[in-house]
Amino acid sequence: MTPQRERGGLFIPSTHESLSGTKRDRDLIYIPRRTKETREIGFHDAQGAEYFMIADEIHLWIGDLDQPSPRLPILSQKEEVRAQQFLKPQDARRFRVAHSFVREILGRYVKQPPDKLEFEFNAAGKPFLQEEVGGAPRTFFNLAHSDRYALLAVSRDQEVGVDIEVEREFVDLPGMARQIMSCAEWTSFRCLPPEAAHDAFFDLWTRKEALLKAAGTGLLIDPRETHLGIPNKPVTVRLQGRTFCVESVLLSVRAKAAIAVEGELHGIHMFKAR
Ligand SMILES: CC(C)(COP(=O)(O)OP(=O)(O)OC[C@H]1O[C@@H](n2cnc3c(N)ncnc32)[C@H](O)[C@@H]1OP(=O)(O)O)[C@@H](O)C(=O)NCCC(=O)NCCS
Repeated sequence: MTPQRERGGLFIPSTHESLSGTKRDRDLIYIPRRTKETREIGFHDAQGAEYFMIADEIHLWIGDLDQPSPRLPILSQKEEVRAQQFLKPQDARRFRVAHSFVREILGRYVKQPPDKLEFEFNAAGKPFLQEEVGGAPRTFFNLAHSDRYALLAVSRDQEVGVDIEVEREFVDLPGMARQIMSCAEWTSFRCLPPEAAHDAFFDLWTRKEALLKAAGTGLLIDPRETHLGIPNKPVTVRLQGRTFCVESVLLSVRAKAAIAVEGELHGIHMFKAR
């Protein structure tokens, strides 16, 4: 194991033809730990790239679902059936791109062809990779999408949940807030000046959804039964006997996002797929 490998990073082929090349042919992009800067990765061109991570890292990928790609989609039959159920062609196309994006990226972590990845689902529908795909350590992931953006979190050995919401106006913001806030959060929310309420709502909504997605239950747990607080700061919470760290993520696009992991949150490395 090279020193770089111990610290996590991405191998990006230096040429597009280097699929069969050795790692020495490739450029290593070393991602220092604990940075929160976003790196742009020429993802669509980088065939043969391998991504790897160390135990306590979270890699967070943001993708633009409206960006044309010559190589997508790569879907299972079941995913294609789901895509065909969308009424609007734009939604179907974005679904196909999002799921291809997940397959392309995860395939590079677990060193499997993207179309060969097999997903299983928990009782609430959270997808996960079968253990030990190709003998690699278990890889955890979670996807969220909103409008034209997809956010994918990848972790080697921590359960993870993410949410992304492109900000929009609500006719009845207090009504929406009441549906997700605990009593104490609602009390603090009502004291906010109107110009702060919109941001506070989206910050809390994304953090709660990331938490419930990390737990794997989604909205089967009523968000009003969780308490993260209105001031937007990283928190550690207990849910169903498990401990999660939850925090907002600053993205370079006009959307709110958040991540939750089971256990401690150490370093987040952000990548923007170009
Ligand atoms: C998980 C949930 C919160 C997602 O909400 P959303 O805002 O519509 O969607 P997001 O963009 O944040 O995330 C969607 C992705 O989360 C993942 N996901 C699905 N169920 C999940 C769960 N229980 N926990 C974590 N992640 C889940 C999937 O990858 C999904 O992508 P897909 O719909 O394209 O397959 C919501 O669907 C939910 O509460 N589901 C659980 C309860 C339920 O209705 N289950 C029915 C199926 S058994």
